[in-house]
Amino acid sequence: VGQNLIRLSAVDSTNNFLKLMVSKSEPLPEGTVIMADNQFAGRGQQENTWYSEPGLNLTFSIFLKPAFLPINKQFMLNIAVSNGINKALKRFIGAGIKTKWPNDLYYNDSKIGGVLIENSISGSAFKSSIIGIGVNVNQQKFDIEKTKVATSLYEILQHDVNLIDLLAEICSHIESQYLQLKSGNYISLMKTYLENLYKFNEQGLYRQNGEVFEATITGVTEEGKLIVLTSGTEKRYSFKEIEFLKN
Ligand code: BTN
Repeated sequence: VGQNLIRLSAVDSTNNFLKLMVSKSEPLPEGTVIMADNQFAGRGQQENTWYSEPGLNLTFSIFLKPAFLPINKQFMLNIAVSNGINKALKRFIGAGIKTKWPNDLYYNDSKIGGVLIENSISGSAFKSSIIGIGVNVNQQKFDIEKTKVATSLYEILQHDVNLIDLLAEICSHIESQYLQLKSGNYISLMKTYLENLYKFNEQGLYRQNGEVFEATITGVTEEGKLIVLTSGTEKRYSFKEIEFLKN
């Protein structure tokens, strides 16, 4: 991952750019990375916008072809990617880095990065996957309205971090997690994910359809559902169905 690196000075979204490259007839090497110094129309999950100040942060996308992965285990790819970023950020920041289900990177209660995975599936097989990653690195000011609770490596470490060094670290950790995925080490990938999961085994407040309730996260499924225990009952939720509340 990252051997073939294309660095753009400006682009709407690295995911869009990579998608266009993949659709061209020439086969693109797996592991190709597109990074942008200025991504001016970045996309987040659930139709959100991903804002990133030009030149200060990492915004990049990785091309993968997980043809070996059964569709009913597709969230294991998200897990491999989240684990990789989590491990890389730990190398710079140490403890305090958590993965918030499904794919956010948190430092304490603030978001430091996010992942937008866009899969292309034909029939019951994976064709390709575009892994879009945004990490707040050297940004010092955040627009509270736009970004809610955001932080950056700079805010935590009080010094700048070299973008290419961090990119290399993330790519190499994602690669090793991806190789584990390829060898079917689902149990070990899941174990790492849960060890780093925000609010795992902790009671928290959640909302579904306007109803607020207390629950404890006890796991996630290989398809990506969140498993919680609430009033003694186990429930499973998909991403759009449940919202974390601050407690
Ligand atoms: C989220 O937290 O909602 C996901 C954010 C993903 C942002 C990254 S930045 C690089 C890539 N290109 C995009 O347009 N989005 C992703």
